[in-house]
Amino acid sequence: MSQDAVKIPKALSGTGGWLDDRFHGARGVRVLMRKVFPDHWSFMLGEIALWSFVILLLTGTYLAFFFVPSMHPVVYHGSYTKLDGITMSQAYQSTLNISFDIRGGLLIRQIHHWSADLFMVAIMAHLLRVFFTGAYRKPREVNWLIGIVLFTLGLLEGLFGYSLPDDQLSGAGLRIFEGVLQGIPIVGTYAAYFLFGGPFPGHSIVPRMYILHVLLIPGLILALITAHLFIMFHQKHTQMPALGNTEKNVVGQPFWPYFLLKGQAWFFFIFGATALLATFAQINPVWLYGPYTPLAISSASQPDFYMGILEGSLRMMPAWEINFLGHTVSLSVLIPAALPLGIIFTGLALWPFFEQWATGDRREHHINDRPRNAPVRTGIGIAGVCFYGIFWAEGANDVIADKLQIPLYTVTWISRVAIIVVPIAAYFITKRICLGLQRKDAELLTHGVEIGIIRQLPSGEFIEESRPLTDDERAVVEAKRVPAALPAPGQPDDNGVPAPASRGMMGKARTAANRAFTETIVVGDGHGNGHGHGNGHEAVEGEEHAAVGSGEAGDGSHEEH
Ligand code: HEM
Repeated sequence: MSQDAVKIPKALSGTGGWLDDRFHGARGVRVLMRKVFPDHWSFMLGEIALWSFVILLLTGTYLAFFFVPSMHPVVYHGSYTKLDGITMSQAYQSTLNISFDIRGGLLIRQIHHWSADLFMVAIMAHLLRVFFTGAYRKPREVNWLIGIVLFTLGLLEGLFGYSLPDDQLSGAGLRIFEGVLQGIPIVGTYAAYFLFGGPFPGHSIVPRMYILHVLLIPGLILALITAHLFIMFHQKHTQMPALGNTEKNVVGQPFWPYFLLKGQAWFFFIFGATALLATFAQINPVWLYGPYTPLAISSASQPDFYMGILEGSLRMMPAWEINFLGHTVSLSVLIPAALPLGIIFTGLALWPFFEQWATGDRREHHINDRPRNAPVRTGIGIAGVCFYGIFWAEGANDVIADKLQIPLYTVTWISRVAIIVVPIAAYFITKRICLGLQRKDAELLTHGVEIGIIRQLPSGEFIEESRPLTDDERAVVEAKRVPAALPAPGQPDDNGVPAPASRGMMGKARTAANRAFTETIVVGDGHGNGHGHGNGHEAVEGEEHAAVGSGEAGDGSHEEH
């Protein structure tokens, strides 16, 4: 047993022994407890998504005790006297009761809403972390795809959740949702009629959304999170480039006690943070909006932030419609509803496979990339963030126009131009910045780090003194793996025939993509990155399953792939 092995408290080991006598699970639990997890602040982003989902389940259960999912009209006579005598749905009435009459109701409602927003922020931040570090590469593509489904389900869950109170703001959102459904050619009107159980808004939509919101979607999310974590556990977590980290080992802390306790502390911290937010920052004060009536709409109506992209794309789109075989096809709704999110989600889903195709790289990757070392990926990622961000900002075009005192349509026209120009510019600028940073790394390897001391040589020349990189710094800078260039179109392969992958239109496209992916700043004579030829392939392929872990496994800080 190693020195820092932790003593298990007697109560715990006694209970464990009792359970093991009955279920014989000790061996499995021991494997779990010794599992090694690499450490990096950005690996906590996925955990924020996880814990905010747990908070959503807990607070949502409390709300479900008191919420009445019914659109049956009632006359309000509760403690919020400003709405006394107003006819409203039971759903809205029960939301007012939760906010004003149920003990702790408003606090729990606000924690629920804040953690929903946090859940979506965390999902997006986590997705970006995984994308920019290339953690989705083989063998983690399936987890990447599961993540995208989770993201989509999160959007739907949020949409249905904030539509439940049946207030003026959420009703406006539902009206848009109905319009989007109706915009689908041929089946749209039927789909909307089916979902709403008749003409809008009808009496069925709240109870139906309620079932989706509390049962079906959370169930799916829970199942998929379980699969997501199980796969992550099985495939082991990626690690950041550092001294001693290789493609064949996992360096980090064991699950017990470090990760388990850290995870719990993280949960309480996030719960505390959402509770503080809920106490001091008001969110969704439905009593100020009033009950929903399809006849009214307030200015500066905004959905929750994660729906902003759809709101913005609707506002950006010109009012186009065409007549097809006697049917009106409302492009002004269809395109904004399907295109931006379609491009983003399809692009995300296909990206790992596209990258594999363009680079020809079919190896496993367990060490994350530094974003600068994958300029095309980083450029596309930043372009995607700009694409998303411009739609999102346009979702508040009325607020921007009002605050900046510029005409509404000027804002819209700026966004229409920006949605094309900015992502393209962002791609090229980011790519250049990445290559610039690579150049800086090459400088560091060849000349070391300037330490700020200027010396005058006897010849009169001034030089700045530098020190060589430390081993830790060198390991990070050298952990650069650039995919090998594929043969040019028509160029014969080892067998003397043009490589099939480079023939025809697709072959040319692939070669062009490959050239972009392989553009890199080569360090010194090619040995600078320590892997020969500047790409590191040989170094990895030649390695056996490393012995790093075996000698030191007792301290739980190393594991093998
Ligand atoms: C309900 C939402 C989600 C939860 C609760 C969740 C949770 C987690 C956790 C706790 C980890 C390990 C820690 C970390 O790397 O941050 C992880 C890893 C991972 N997640 Fe997620 N995730 C969610 C959504 C997503 C999304 C939207 C994507 C991408 C589309 C994604 C892709 C991945 C991948 C590829 C890994 C493995 C990363 C690695 O080994 O470096 N996840 N997830």
